[in-house]
Amino acid sequence: MSPDLPTAWWPMTQALQQYRRALTLARTYYPKAFTYFAIASAILLALALLNATVPVLLREATNRLAAGDAMSVILVTAAAYALCWTGAQVLEWTKNILSAAVLVRCDAAFYRAFFDHLLKVPQAELRKLDQGVLVADAQRSKGAFSALTSTLFWIVLPTLIELLFVFAVLATLISVAFAAFFIMAIVGLVGLSVLLSRKAKGIHQRIMESNNQVMSHFTERMRLVEEIKLNNAQPLEQQRFGSKVGGFIDSVTVGNLRIGLLMLLQVTLVGALLLASTLYVVGEVAKGTYTVGDFVMINGYVMQLTMRLALLASVLIELRNHLVLLDRGFHYLDLETEPQGHSTPDTNAEVLFELEGVTYRAEGRTILDNVDLQIHQGRTYAITGPSGAGKTTLLRLLVGLIQPEAGAVRAFGTDTWNLDRTALLDAVSVVTQHPLLIAGSVADNVRYGAKGNLSDDRLDSLLGQLGLDAHASDTPTTDRHVGFDAAAVSGGEKQRIAIARALARGTPTILLDEPTSALDVESEERTIDVLKANARTLVLITHRPSVAAKADYVIHLDGDGTVRMSARPN
Ligand SMILES: Nc1ncnc2c1ncn2[C@@H]1O[C@H](COP(=O)(O)OP(=O)(O)OP(=O)(O)O)[C@@H](O)[C@H]1O
Ligand SMILES: [Mg+2]
Repeated sequence: MSPDLPTAWWPMTQALQQYRRALTLARTYYPKAFTYFAIASAILLALALLNATVPVLLREATNRLAAGDAMSVILVTAAAYALCWTGAQVLEWTKNILSAAVLVRCDAAFYRAFFDHLLKVPQAELRKLDQGVLVADAQRSKGAFSALTSTLFWIVLPTLIELLFVFAVLATLISVAFAAFFIMAIVGLVGLSVLLSRKAKGIHQRIMESNNQVMSHFTERMRLVEEIKLNNAQPLEQQRFGSKVGGFIDSVTVGNLRIGLLMLLQVTLVGALLLASTLYVVGEVAKGTYTVGDFVMINGYVMQLTMRLALLASVLIELRNHLVLLDRGFHYLDLETEPQGHSTPDTNAEVLFELEGVTYRAEGRTILDNVDLQIHQGRTYAITGPSGAGKTTLLRLLVGLIQPEAGAVRAFGTDTWNLDRTALLDAVSVVTQHPLLIAGSVADNVRYGAKGNLSDDRLDSLLGQLGLDAHASDTPTTDRHVGFDAAAVSGGEKQRIAIARALARGTPTILLDEPTSALDVESEERTIDVLKANARTLVLITHRPSVAAKADYVIHLDGDGTVRMSARPN
């Protein structure tokens, strides 16, 4: 904010800056949209000119008719009027088609900016966001951006241009004084619209908040459907949702009632202008100052402009709402992104991972306390320790997803803080404790991180090695759909699909967080053997002694922040 701007102007300048920022986004993603935009704007100019000409031609035709001019002249004038009107309609629709092409790109640019940005936000921050609200906000702020674009460029601007044309015509054909009065009355009404729109701002915000509450409740409960059923909580949940929706109905009803009343006030004032100008012009026509054609023309303008005004008033009321929504959207785009290092890892380094004096705290508790640790290439490590000891945390530190409070974590000899994580993850695969599958087939999921390098044979071989091919069904395993949230596969299958996905990437190092916790002893043994056969270096978090027994070294977390490494007892 610039300190010398009066505070009343601040929200407006800020809003304009945000709008410019949104335009830059659209331009980055869809440079071509601006060509359509320029053409649409040129058409608009022509349209404003035509719209202002139609009543003039009507006036001509009326005056000639009244004066008893030659029939051919009257016919030509009347035909010109009709043509002009038709031309205006054709241009209007051409503009609509082009503007739709621009607006959909504004929408898309916003979605993409959201998606791209949120991918870079640290997981810990992302987890704090309410998913339902996030989706609702993303949708509404992209809508606000395109609505603002159409309001500013295709409603406010053309109305202003048309007003200018009308002023010029009235000043030429009637009188400068009348033209000035007419335009001032119109501008006064617009000013009033703006004042009223300020009042509407809070109403919109309240409606939005209550809609958010419904959305977030709905999204959250949809994830819990099974729990709801198992607890016989359907009646309770239905009743709760009913009352949430009830609050939403109330706020929307009251809000729209208030907005409706504001609109009524506006329409009444527009009507008053129509009445006043009609009465005045009729009186002047009776006195002989103006012709009947003048009366027809002025009436035409009043009708045309008041219709525009009604539209303008409604979009101006929405304008503030859109600015609020746009602001909300940018709040997400302003979330700080993860620091991005640029050093590429030396994948030949003997020491793969190294912790030096690492201390990590979460919510005031010390998870890792001054830990030193080295993980070498070509070995298998098991990480063990009680639940909550910090095993997953350690794994996340190794790949630089989180940073220690003190000390250094190095991967391939480089501090993870400076490391280009993309390059690191080209050399390391990770299977998380609760792997997520994308909605799609088993093959889609296994190929997910393999960048298209996975042959069908290799895919089949991986599934076979992991025992994923023996499913009693007509559909081949590769084509089986995992369902939304992996609901159509078992817990153990899901784990093995995630392992296949890591193996499919073909990296020499694989880190796994309790990868076989849902498997039977036999499948577990087989899976670990497959992993050992396919990867040079393995780091496995496990609670099972049978898995730890297959490792060369055991890294044990005591749960009090200390970490001990020992060679596997033979
Ligand atoms: N994002 C977070 N915010 C706050 N606390 C966290 C966060 N992540 C982990 N913790 C806490 O840090 C501690 C270690 O968690 P971590 O997930 O590393 O344990 P773990 O050893 O993997 O346990 P488990 O065997 O149950 O998976 C836990 O007390 C956990 O509650
Ligand atoms: Mg864990």
